Amino acid sequence: MPELVRPSEQHQGSFLAAVREAQATGSGLGDTLAWDPAELEAEFPAFLTHLHRYEPGNALPNGFVYSEVWWLVEGGEYLGRVNIRHTLNERLREFGGHIGYEVRPSARRRGHATRMLRLALARAHALGIERALVTCDVNNLGSRAVIEANSGELEGEFQLAFHPVPIRRYWVPTAPARSVEPVKRTRVH
Ligand SMILES: CC(C)(COP(=O)(O)OP(=O)(O)OC[C@H]1O[C@@H](n2cnc3c(N)ncnc32)[C@H](O)[C@@H]1OP(=O)(O)O)[C@@H](O)C(=O)NCCC(=O)NCCS
Repeated sequence: MPELVRPSEQHQGSFLAAVREAQATGSGLGDTLAWDPAELEAEFPAFLTHLHRYEPGNALPNGFVYSEVWWLVEGGEYLGRVNIRHTLNERLREFGGHIGYEVRPSARRRGHATRMLRLALARAHALGIERALVTCDVNNLGSRAVIEANSGELEGEFQLAFHPVPIRRYWVPTAPARSVEPVKRTRVH
């Protein structure tokens, strides 16, 4: 069963394969689009430090909140990543929310994002977040389905001055880890 783990060298090879795979499709994986995979490989310990840079204990740049990154893995294979922001600021309340995620291209449409969000909601609950804000573009049908499968309640659709397409904001109830169970899928038509 896929599980959330902290980013580490244990999954370096699989993560780098996923980065190459994502870059071949023109998308960055975990904000790695700007990184040359060879450089990432050579500088992996520094990259891990970079991933952990917004965690409590570090000095935050102005306007940033504490956040953490988790990787979804199964049988040693990297499947995707989720970011959990510990609090919202004005900007995140508008766009971005508490939780953001992505699944490597070759692992999509297998339920991983649905499970990853559910696991992230359990982590958010442990952090004291009762309802997590999750936002997505209105035309991101995959993300909409993932949020709705996790009982997200739609706040509304919003056109933001700085974003090309309208977004949806959802409030998703969090739950303790023990109630992390599969839920029935709802399809977006
Ligand atoms: C959106 C994303 C996270 C979905 O990941 P995933 O692991 O494929 O999602 P799931 O398998 O849990 O999908 C759940 C349901 O969403 C719907 N869905 C998923 N991808 C879809 C797509 N491209 N188009 C329409 N519906 C889609 C389906 O109903 C799917 O269930 P089904 O496969 O049984 O039909 C993934 O496509 C991705 O990483 N995209 C790029 C980054 C991104 O958009 N992140 C979210 C930002 S808000």
